[in-house]
Amino acid sequence: MDLLRDIQIKKLDIQHLDTITMFHVKHCNEYKITKDEFLTFLSKDQYCIYAAFDGQLVIGYIIYLRSIDMADIVYIFVQKEYRNIGVASLLLQISCTELSVEQLFLEVSFQNKTAINFYTKNNFKTINIRKNYYKNSDAFVMCLCNQ
Ligand SMILES: CC(C)(COP(=O)(O)OP(=O)(O)OC[C@H]1O[C@@H](n2cnc3c(N)ncnc32)[C@H](O)[C@@H]1OP(=O)(O)O)[C@@H](O)C(=O)NCCC(=O)NCCS
Repeated sequence: MDLLRDIQIKKLDIQHLDTITMFHVKHCNEYKITKDEFLTFLSKDQYCIYAAFDGQLVIGYIIYLRSIDMADIVYIFVQKEYRNIGVASLLLQISCTELSVEQLFLEVSFQNKTAINFYTKNNFKTINIRKNYYKNSDAFVMCLCNQ
């Protein structure tokens, strides 16, 4: 918990386009997101990104696609060196409170045991299975109900 004391969670805006793109390219090779896609996530009303900062440095982020009272998690990512100390949980909890939606949904690969553990630990429940959702695997559809 002490390690988390200096971590700040902030909503990003268009001024952060280069920062978040560079962070993603440098640290995340498992899921491709282009600069144009980040531009969309930062400029369209239905999307939003929250990032975790250690001082001035981005160390993780979460991208949402929002509609009125619900949202989908498009992606969540934490830099390897900062994993397993609660950064993603903090990102999720603070952004979720700010978004103030009743339900959160996501798809996660059957193979991504770490992410499944992470979502389960954060009270998401499996509500469905999507066959062949990913190239090499099926996906769980999970939901967090905040009612
Ligand atoms: C999934 C991810 C975002 C979790 O980030 P994190 O900051 O390490 O997560 P937290 O520290 O908040 O972990 C909370 C819980 O997740 C689970 N968890 C985290 N890392 C784990 C690991 N390596 N193995 C198993 N479970 C793990 C645990 O249940 C943990 O709770 P615990 O510490 O009480 O055991 C991170 O591993 C990541 O960026 N992975 C690559 C991107 C990805 O797969 N995103 C999800 C796409 S659907």
